[in-house]
Amino acid sequence: MGKVILTGDRPTGKLHLGHYVGSLRRRVELQNSGEFEKIFIMIADAQALTDNADNPEKIRQNIIEVALDYLSAGLDPEKVTIFIQSQVPELCELAFYYMNLVTVQRLQRNPTVKQEIQLRGFSDNEDEDQNKKGTPVGFFTYPISQASDITAFKATTVPVGVDQAPMIEQTREIVHKFNSVYGPTLVMPEMMLPENSVCCRLPGTDGKAKMSKSLGNCVYLSSTPKELKKAVNSMFTDPNHLQIEDPGTVEGNVVFTYLDAFCKDEHFAKYLPEYENLEAMKAHYRRGGLGDGTCKKFLLNILEEMLQPMREIRHKYEQDIPGVYEILRKGSEKARAEAAKTLNEVRKAMRIDYFGDAALIEEHTKKYSSK
Ligand code: TRP
Repeated sequence: MGKVILTGDRPTGKLHLGHYVGSLRRRVELQNSGEFEKIFIMIADAQALTDNADNPEKIRQNIIEVALDYLSAGLDPEKVTIFIQSQVPELCELAFYYMNLVTVQRLQRNPTVKQEIQLRGFSDNEDEDQNKKGTPVGFFTYPISQASDITAFKATTVPVGVDQAPMIEQTREIVHKFNSVYGPTLVMPEMMLPENSVCCRLPGTDGKAKMSKSLGNCVYLSSTPKELKKAVNSMFTDPNHLQIEDPGTVEGNVVFTYLDAFCKDEHFAKYLPEYENLEAMKAHYRRGGLGDGTCKKFLLNILEEMLQPMREIRHKYEQDIPGVYEILRKGSEKARAEAAKTLNEVRKAMRIDYFGDAALIEEHTKKYSSK
């Protein structure tokens, strides 16, 4: 059987450079590698709702943004199936059955869930702590829903960032448990991590660990030349590098972290021929004599070269929004057909396909025929 990819993003905002290096760039390469029989890219609106129940409009508005970001980054709807999670109700049914295979205690140990509960300030004891809300059940169980997303499409390969490792592990446990209880039915997925470690976690422009909309430290794929320039110029560098002649530090210096993620040797020939490669540039910065302005200008050139073609594609699709919704509708239909096949197999394996089960009807006919 051919290899299948399933992955996706929560539509809580526009996609930024962190998404691009962490996953989007790789997806486009995988799409073009011809190595995969099928590729499903999911806009995980139902998962986004697990902690945005009171703000569905935010999710509703961002589906199109994520779709436009996907298309502008080079995902080709002829080669990949882009779909909206909530439009595939089969996923809910699968999750409902998988819930019986996972304990509350196991979910409580899931490190990502634990961390996210803390991050969102959900309280363990909402009765005592009047100001805090407890954890929504749907949020708590989202790793199980994620197992449905992955198994519904018989995904062999799930390209994600390291933060998603516990989800894939939990999915693998569910697959193992399901297959050993009900017989071999589900495909065991493998996680695929980004190749380059800088790409796993691109810091925000302020040097904070992660890009986040609320911190205002993101660089969006859809940013205008002006916005991009402003973001690069505001980047955190080395606070002790006051004079150009001072020795500088590249570790924790966001400009260099971004250069690690985006710069290739050919960029030097084109934009900064005084250096042969990034190592030579870093050495000069460390020695002293290389100003932040020059580094930022170089990075800006590289990012501009990367984002400019994306802006053009985005602009083209923005002129045909009904067409983009049509891509999503067709993709969701295709995804639904695929998930329905798996659901049928699951029902069969669990022996809850009563009406198609001639042996069951026969058995009960016999049971009562002598009476
Ligand atoms: N949890 C992922 C995120 O927050 C989104 C997601 C939902 C996903 N279902 C998935 C990723 C299945 C990979 C596989 O980005």
